[in-house]
Amino acid sequence: MKTKGIILAGGRGTRLYPMTGVFSKQLQPVYDKPMIYYPLSTLMLAGIRDVLIISTPQDTPNFEALLGDGGQWGINLEYAVQDRPGGIAEAFLYGRDFIGGDQVCLILGDNLFYGKLDYLRRALARNGDGATIFGYQVQHPERYGVVEFNRDGRVLGIEEKPLRPRSKFAVPGLYVYEPGVVQVAEEVKPSARGEREITDVNLEYLRRDKLQVERMGRGIAWLDTGTPDSLIEAGMFIHTVEKRQGYKIACLEEIAVGREYISREDYARIVAAMPNGTYRDYCARILQEIEQGL
Ligand code: TTP
Repeated sequence: MKTKGIILAGGRGTRLYPMTGVFSKQLQPVYDKPMIYYPLSTLMLAGIRDVLIISTPQDTPNFEALLGDGGQWGINLEYAVQDRPGGIAEAFLYGRDFIGGDQVCLILGDNLFYGKLDYLRRALARNGDGATIFGYQVQHPERYGVVEFNRDGRVLGIEEKPLRPRSKFAVPGLYVYEPGVVQVAEEVKPSARGEREITDVNLEYLRRDKLQVERMGRGIAWLDTGTPDSLIEAGMFIHTVEKRQGYKIACLEEIAVGREYISREDYARIVAAMPNGTYRDYCARILQEIEQGL
């Protein structure tokens, strides 16, 4: 079954104020790229080539200016405006026509994943059977949605920011759903804080016995970037890995040519049009490596 992707990149970004006074959180740099490059790279690496980006009325034009229609990377990008931050589950209401009859993978625009994507591939291979969330061990699960599950990955319960967490597994901002999620999201009632909560969507799938959890192992890095501390920590993480390996994380051009979404000729043309700088130097080096069969 085909899978479409949604990046939810709106919100208020109040915790990053005053950085978010003019530009949204997901346009802020994480070391050497705008934040949204990272979730977009995750979708592209998972083979998802149709992506809807949802943001605020002020920021959506900025995302369009930055990313365009995606043709330069061999993907299709569409945009939708969320009038006000009415909750993560609203993504499916704004995405109704875009999703159509396809499986959908939602990723939050401020979540970064690094490491082998087997957990996501396993979820996508379920081909529209119910919903899949992920479980990631963290030191402070009480700050997140916490999922309790058995050996087969059957979810026993999810609790939002519990005082006494029943497991160490937090739920990251990455979810996979069957196309019927649009209707489920419609039927979810706004919570006390006036938002359509993604946890309520997931609890509905749990009630139907159609909620699966995929464990992300310790070899995966999941970082979020919502506060000044977590933002700089994510930047330092990316910097450290890139310096050590000599390869960039979330270089969209490299991913596009590596997965053959674009030809080598297209890639060479894009690199030639880039302004001088380390990003262009890197992309040019990658082209040489490809040509030398490295
Ligand atoms: P949050 O980090 O929960 O909220 P926020 O981005 O508004 O930040 P703050 O708490 O500092 O004010 O949002 C998680 C992600 O989901 C983030 O990428 C923004 C996005 N989001 C929307 O796009 N629309 C929404 O209605 C909500 C609730 C979140």
